[in-house]
Amino acid sequence: MYCVRKITEDLYWVGGNDRRLALFENIHPIPRGVSYNSYLLLDKETVLFDTVDWSICRQFIENIKHLLGDKTLDYMVINHVEPDHAACIEEIILRYPEVKIICTPKATMFMRQFGFDIDGRIIEVKEGNKMSFGEHEVMFVGAPMVHWPEAMVTYDLTNGALFSADAFGTFGSLDGKLFNDEVNFDRDWIDDARRYYTNIVGKYGVHVQALLKKASNLDIKFICPLHGPVWRNDFGYFLGKYDKWSRYEPEEKGVMIVYGTMYGNTEAAANDLATRLVEKGMKNVVMYDVSSTDVSDLISEAFKYSHIVLASVTYNLNLYPPMLNYITDMKALNVQNRTFALVENGTWAPQSGKIMRKLLEELKNTTILENDVSLSSSMKEEEGTSMDDLANNIIESMK
Ligand code: FEO
Repeated sequence: MYCVRKITEDLYWVGGNDRRLALFENIHPIPRGVSYNSYLLLDKETVLFDTVDWSICRQFIENIKHLLGDKTLDYMVINHVEPDHAACIEEIILRYPEVKIICTPKATMFMRQFGFDIDGRIIEVKEGNKMSFGEHEVMFVGAPMVHWPEAMVTYDLTNGALFSADAFGTFGSLDGKLFNDEVNFDRDWIDDARRYYTNIVGKYGVHVQALLKKASNLDIKFICPLHGPVWRNDFGYFLGKYDKWSRYEPEEKGVMIVYGTMYGNTEAAANDLATRLVEKGMKNVVMYDVSSTDVSDLISEAFKYSHIVLASVTYNLNLYPPMLNYITDMKALNVQNRTFALVENGTWAPQSGKIMRKLLEELKNTTILENDVSLSSSMKEEEGTSMDDLANNIIESMK
């Protein structure tokens, strides 16, 4: 059964949802599923903007068949070649053999690398090129590294729709509600949107900033991303979040404590620090166990909070592996402009503070507070003073 949504008189959402996939890119948990968005323009000539993941191809084909009826498909605009959007290109070609593919030269190269049979149907476009399909004229705008180098976005000069590829996407499936004003985005979606952005595109803040600059010159009426809701108002809210995230500016002044604990002693020290911070007036404190919290959540929260405390046990005279993984991922995703504080623990040779400091020094624009707390096996009453000093320093550094 087809399932489509009308966006304007001649533009439709023809995507679908995958609620059975456990891990996006086989790495990031998606308990709320994910949508793969594709859009069909029924102008004098018909245009499909991107395809979908293979998992929902059958739904996708039913949607397109329903809307096209006897018409043929004239064009596919391929903004992004990652297989969660490009997997059904060949299926479309088989069903609509006359279809032409509009894309960047790099996208052509990538489609060939993936083994797609696209010979004789490619129209390559560059920054600022325009094409008309009847009533609608579109302009192609480069968006390299948002999130792959071949990516572009397409702006419809007639209806103001921006087909934004991965930009402005989010994890989460659409429960019949397509538009941002049909959901409570700030309550129900923002955490998944942040987790999507930071883990998928977070590394490429400079490129996102470049795209935001280009977008500021467009009169946007709709943002049509490849995942998640379509935006048709309140653009400032989401553009503002993207601006902040891509400049690596924290959303909130607050303290995120991430602890790596084997038997609960380092966790107890982290609880002590959290309590001191709250008693001193800093109530925006969150705590996460590095072993049981997915690293994609820890990355997302690192983009949210201004201060990060890492409290870790020493392990085999080295850093506790889940903590090492977290710091490595922060570096890979370009986390920067944050203030860190450290608590180490160890029974015969505490090393974790020194190792964490060295690793964090590789992050850009990072402040690491000086007075690390070093514990031997467990926190004692007399170590309250050094923990108190650390809490005071954290609060002082927020001023
Ligand atoms: Fe949703 Fe970069 O693919």
